[in-house]
Amino acid sequence: MAKETLTIKDNRTGKTYEVPIQDGSIRTAELRKIKVSDDDFGLLGYDPALMNTASCKSKVTYIDGDNGILRYRGYDIADLADNSNYLETAYLIVKGELPDSQRLKAWTHNIKMHTMVHENIRKFMDGFRYDAHPMGMIMGTVAAMSTFYPDAKDVEDLQSRRLQTRRLIGKLPTISAFAYRQMRGLPFVYPDNELSYTGNFLQMLFKIAGNYTPDPVIERALEVLFILHADHEQNCSANAVRAVGSSLVDPYSAVASGIGALYGPRHGGANEAVVQMLTKIGSVKNVAKAIKSFKSGEDRLMGFGHRIYKAYDPRGKIIKKLADEVFEVTGKNKLIDIALELERIALQDEYFVERRLYPNVDFYTGIIYQAIGFPTTMFPVLFAIPRTSGWLAQWSEMVRDPEQKITRPRQLYIGEDLREYAPIKGRPKPSDREDKVAEVI
Ligand code: SDX
Repeated sequence: MAKETLTIKDNRTGKTYEVPIQDGSIRTAELRKIKVSDDDFGLLGYDPALMNTASCKSKVTYIDGDNGILRYRGYDIADLADNSNYLETAYLIVKGELPDSQRLKAWTHNIKMHTMVHENIRKFMDGFRYDAHPMGMIMGTVAAMSTFYPDAKDVEDLQSRRLQTRRLIGKLPTISAFAYRQMRGLPFVYPDNELSYTGNFLQMLFKIAGNYTPDPVIERALEVLFILHADHEQNCSANAVRAVGSSLVDPYSAVASGIGALYGPRHGGANEAVVQMLTKIGSVKNVAKAIKSFKSGEDRLMGFGHRIYKAYDPRGKIIKKLADEVFEVTGKNKLIDIALELERIALQDEYFVERRLYPNVDFYTGIIYQAIGFPTTMFPVLFAIPRTSGWLAQWSEMVRDPEQKITRPRQLYIGEDLREYAPIKGRPKPSDREDKVAEVI
């Protein structure tokens, strides 16, 4: 039987090392044993952007990027999108099992009991400028929530973790809707717990006067979109939540860091960038020219490509179908024609095919959100709300993991050797030396 080990020969010393292989990986700490002398530090693994590094063990989400498979706690994403709702899926992600009816009722009640926010939070949000980006508003507000719940610091207490989890899942829609109303200069609408999670969110967003009844097609579409965005293993923002949370800070501060990571156009900000890109392209007849600019590297085809998926993002397939259902109610968003033509051409163009670039979760979401009536700046917010349950599942898994410590990677130092302080008189003028300062921002 072949041994589950790696034999490494250090040609500098002729020594060989046996490194155990576990779960398809080696512990890079084993490389520290490879030394040229007793006082040698040993070898490090160098992996910028952690492209080939497992930072943790997790049971939450499984992705097979080559075959376009995504499962939450073993359940396929399409199965959940067809049959579940967001709060039930959030329970599954956070707790590890689908709830029975009694537990689902209790979970739903417990979340709904936390949809209100302290009145000072409403006042705090009033302070943002009229043109503040809602991602900046919710990031700042979630971080500020850590000052309202000092009990959240006790991260190693199970009951405290459970309470903060309910608070964050319950309050994210409220503060997100408040951010939207702040942008629109409209009075804030308070939660209506008679409605579903997404129905309540829609009424906090769009209720103007009198009663508000959410459109059932839009309500269901949001439920599916929230399910699809709930978790995605060690993406940039989940990694941020784990790393910040590893200092044992409270979960509001950790989740705020996740919102910050998600804000970026390479991550959750891509859905906003897709609609800006499609609008700039303007019509189907300009698609061929746009494709040229993507292939030259002048622009990026936003909503395409993924670090893990080298096949069609399974979420993208479901979202693409959802668009037709939403358009039945809202009327067709003409940007869809440009998106479909971009996809048609890109999926047969060598540049995208050889780089295995396919539509990802962000390619079609923005078109749907725009059709529902959201401004583009709200699109990443619609990603952050459902992802909160995934971040919290990852955070609590990290807190409970006996192998986890404070995240503190090493580096390869490539800077200056020791230099002595020189009095200002004697220092060389910039023109006398390679102007290295120019490289420093
Ligand atoms: C999300 O990680 C997650 O799970 C994230 C997410 C989640 O649910 O949490 O799935 C959500 O963030 C989806 C991704 C949303 N971002 C975008 O749509 C932005 C556009 N996509 C790219 O910027 C890019 O594809 C990334 C950031 C998503 C992935 O980048 P990688 O893995 O670092 O790949 P890369 O940038 O090194 O690109 C490899 C090659 C390069 O070409 P060469 O240098 O080899 O010639 O592919 C090219 C890139 O130029 N390329 C693209 C491209 N994406 C990559 N070229 C044109 N258009 C693109 N979109």
